Amino acid sequence: MTRKRVLSGIQPTADSFHLGNYLGAVQQWVALQEDHDVFFFIADLHALTIETDPALLRKRSLVSAAQLIASGVDPEKSTVFLQSHVAAHNQLGWIMECMAGFGEASRMTQFKDKSQKSGTDRTAVGLFTYPMLQAADILLYQADRVPVGEDQRQHIELTRDLAGRFNSRYGKTFQVPEPHILKSGAKINDLQDPTAKMSKSAESMQGVIEILDSPESNAKKIKSSMTDAGREVRFDQAEKPGVSNLMTIHSALSGSTIAEIEKAFEGKGYGDFKGAVAEIVVEYLRPIRAKALELLEDEAFLIQTLRNGADKARVVAEKTLSDTYKNLGLVER
Ligand code: TYM
Repeated sequence: MTRKRVLSGIQPTADSFHLGNYLGAVQQWVALQEDHDVFFFIADLHALTIETDPALLRKRSLVSAAQLIASGVDPEKSTVFLQSHVAAHNQLGWIMECMAGFGEASRMTQFKDKSQKSGTDRTAVGLFTYPMLQAADILLYQADRVPVGEDQRQHIELTRDLAGRFNSRYGKTFQVPEPHILKSGAKINDLQDPTAKMSKSAESMQGVIEILDSPESNAKKIKSSMTDAGREVRFDQAEKPGVSNLMTIHSALSGSTIAEIEKAFEGKGYGDFKGAVAEIVVEYLRPIRAKALELLEDEAFLIQTLRNGADKARVVAEKTLSDTYKNLGLVER
């Protein structure tokens, strides 16, 4: 039986991935590579939608590659590459822009949120066309499944709509992908504002656990995380968002169920619980951080790995692009 195709991407827009990226996406990628045909890429072109410093973008792209490999994404099993190394992403991106309606694109909540924050004059057109490039990223590889966090659901829905529309107008060209979103872990919240998602663009980093941050700093952030006036360690998203978020993190990293965690902390206070979560997070991240820092010492290896990945990705992407052009009636080269 042929293995199902999986594709996903992550933006290199921060000095480190955060725990939300890890639990919502990367941890799943590592699991899926065992029995799927997997493509994972660093969305460096998407990162250009916000103003970037060239040296920083370069560094963050390599830091992203190091973190993926350190987290267990194995370049022998997974095709790992940079989006900018495969030109077909931009080429199919244009076609997707021509397939999407202006109103449809205007309804994307990530665009609305971000453009509202900075105002339309300071918002790049690329931020508006971002979801169509994302659709191209996915459709080029004929992906069956796209493992992402909850915040990407709307973009995957748009991708499905665009694929279906194209197929019905021009003949079956694209696999219509399914989102692969976990029930738990798909939305990790900020430790200081536990009703908002953990995000690289948070105003304060006090509520964001970064994979590459020091164990001391991460432990401190967890111990001083926002909870509530109660004492009971119980999962209740509405009444106890902070405690519930910490329980989700505990469960995802320790493998204990929520019920087991509730039982283990019966009669104990938040102090004990936070201490235990801090310990689990720090010990889980310690080897990943060490490995990523070690990989960063060998830039040539990282670049070569990404080039090898792009060579493999290009074969698949160019086939889809050429079928797309043909079905659209563009004269063959
Ligand atoms: P990005 O770089 O913002 O995030 C990478 C992945 O991390 C997930 N994520 C979270 N999961 C749980 N809790 C959180 N607090 C949290 N924050 C982020 C995201 O859902 C994502 O899976 N547009 C994408 C990148 C992209 C892409 C693609 C993804 C470009 N092309 C094609 C899939 C397929 C993004 O900005 O992810």
